[in-house]
Amino acid sequence: MNEVTGEPENVWPVYRRLLRYTQRYWYALLASAFGFAIYAAMQPLTAHMMQVIVDTFENPTPGKVLLISLAPITIAFIQGVGRFIGSYSVAWLGQHIVFQMRNEVFQHVLNLPQKVFQHNATGRITSKLVFDAQQITAAGSDAVVIIIREGLTVALLLAYLLYIDWKLTLILFTVAPAIGVVVNYSGKRFRVISRRMQANMGNISHYVGEAIDGQQPVKIFAGQEQERKRFFDVSRSFEKQNVKLVATKEVGTSLVHMVISAGVGTIIFLFFKVMGEDVSVGVFLTFFTGIGLIQKPIKNLTDVNVKIQRGLIGAASLFELLDTPAEDDSGKRSLTRARGNLEFRDVVFGYESGQPVLKGLSFKVAAGETVALVGRSGAGKTTISSLLPRFHDVDAGSILLDGFPLSDYPLKDLRRQIAMVSQKVVLFNDTVRNNIAYGELQGANDADIIQALKDAQAWEFVQQLQGGLDAPIGQDGTQLSGGQRQRLAIARAFLKNAPILILDEATSALDTESEFKIQQALENIMHGRTTLVIAHRLSTIEKADRILVLDSGRLLESGSHETLLANNGAYAQLYRVNFEEH
Ligand SMILES: Nc1ncnc2c1ncn2[C@@H]1O[C@H](COP(=O)(O)OP(=O)(O)OP(=O)(O)O)[C@@H](O)[C@H]1O
Ligand SMILES: [Mg+2]
Repeated sequence: MNEVTGEPENVWPVYRRLLRYTQRYWYALLASAFGFAIYAAMQPLTAHMMQVIVDTFENPTPGKVLLISLAPITIAFIQGVGRFIGSYSVAWLGQHIVFQMRNEVFQHVLNLPQKVFQHNATGRITSKLVFDAQQITAAGSDAVVIIIREGLTVALLLAYLLYIDWKLTLILFTVAPAIGVVVNYSGKRFRVISRRMQANMGNISHYVGEAIDGQQPVKIFAGQEQERKRFFDVSRSFEKQNVKLVATKEVGTSLVHMVISAGVGTIIFLFFKVMGEDVSVGVFLTFFTGIGLIQKPIKNLTDVNVKIQRGLIGAASLFELLDTPAEDDSGKRSLTRARGNLEFRDVVFGYESGQPVLKGLSFKVAAGETVALVGRSGAGKTTISSLLPRFHDVDAGSILLDGFPLSDYPLKDLRRQIAMVSQKVVLFNDTVRNNIAYGELQGANDADIIQALKDAQAWEFVQQLQGGLDAPIGQDGTQLSGGQRQRLAIARAFLKNAPILILDEATSALDTESEFKIQQALENIMHGRTTLVIAHRLSTIEKADRILVLDSGRLLESGSHETLLANNGAYAQLYRVNFEEH
């Protein structure tokens, strides 16, 4: 995809790929072709009625009068049935394909590596699933309907016209190259405009999301004007592109119409010049009714290019996301329950290439050991914890669990070993119960859930919520206080009962009393588990078996609280500052 011009370099692969989705539902296409064939067959019949009407006019028998009186309603009825069968099948097909693609893309999104989301705004992905997917059905179904319906109509009418007067009819073919030029040019322009519209739509949903999620900073820093302007610009651009799209389409359609009319004019001219006298009124009327009927479907067929381009651009956007490689999950060493030996071996890792955050980090954590990570903000503590469940993969060196590199294990097995309370608590817009017993924990019994809540010092406040375990907590737990949200996250980790526990500032939002109580539960739970504790408050880490002091991605020192104090190094200094604060 060429980002600058918005021109897909080659639309054929996209086209073929989209067709593969269609192939699966060949029967729907067949049904649609059947319906539209019925519809199309009625067109030459309509032209032919002119002949019958003229005949009746010259020689009105009761039978013929009855025939031409009943013909319109009969033709309309048959045409209506054909049209319904044709359109219904195509709509069904279009919706099926988009339904399938949407689900495929969403499932894929669930398995994308975290770095993809760092470079793609959520709004952009949302708009792919909503807007771009919609473009495929809307434009795609229209296109299929037109191609089948109008294609058949044109084919049958042409056959009929050729039958009546093939020489004149052939003149109509001479306009084809001119139509081709117009269609080709407008198609290219359409792709460009459609690409821009997509980008705009992505930004629209992104800006709306950001303005709503961030409404407090928006309000407190009076950012409304800035947000309004940002949104205004992108929605204005969307509007302009839409209008341009219509303008391009209308100009193209008018040009095509003119070209066809010129062809028809030529035919009329030649008709009178060359063969005027020896043709009956019936043939004359029939031929020109046919010529009249064929213009609209030809015009529609040329419009179809526009729709195809739109659908293709939508499909290209979905395929692009679908082709983004998912997380590497090639490990085959299955793991039921790890012992919990961890080792970092010369680990180098950076979020952006050339900017390492961890610069050759080595340390070991024995099974069951509690290790605390301390260090300045930005030292790389959270980064370390996010490497363990392989949210990111190391650039060099390796991380071993029970003696084997993390990538040896299937992701699911690896992640099942880890309970994590992350620095940024994320909760779902659901009930307390469903937030605690989430994912694989779904269906956990209430007694266990309540015990986890009790251990996390959360049961007391959960009981007071209207509905208790079934109380909804709002989007990302907005109906709860910061400390309450944190305690739910802790309960969730407790319930998981995994051999490795990672606590990243897990109690930072709690008052000293709750923190103290949780500490006790934590100590119970840490027992027999490998635990990584990250905390700024040194009081929470003094009891760790070992403390690792980090500074800008390197290990400064490690040892127990007492040893490190005795060493009088970085930790001792940190500790003194911390101590003086309290
Ligand atoms: N998603 C990210 N993309 C790019 N850089 C990042 C990302 N997350 C963290 N970093 C960078 O990596 C470095 C380490 O960040 P990390 O979150 O690991 O620090 P930390 O030790 O947990 O700090 P804190 O105590 O403030 O939580 C920082 O310099 C930060 O700028
Ligand atoms: Mg952190």
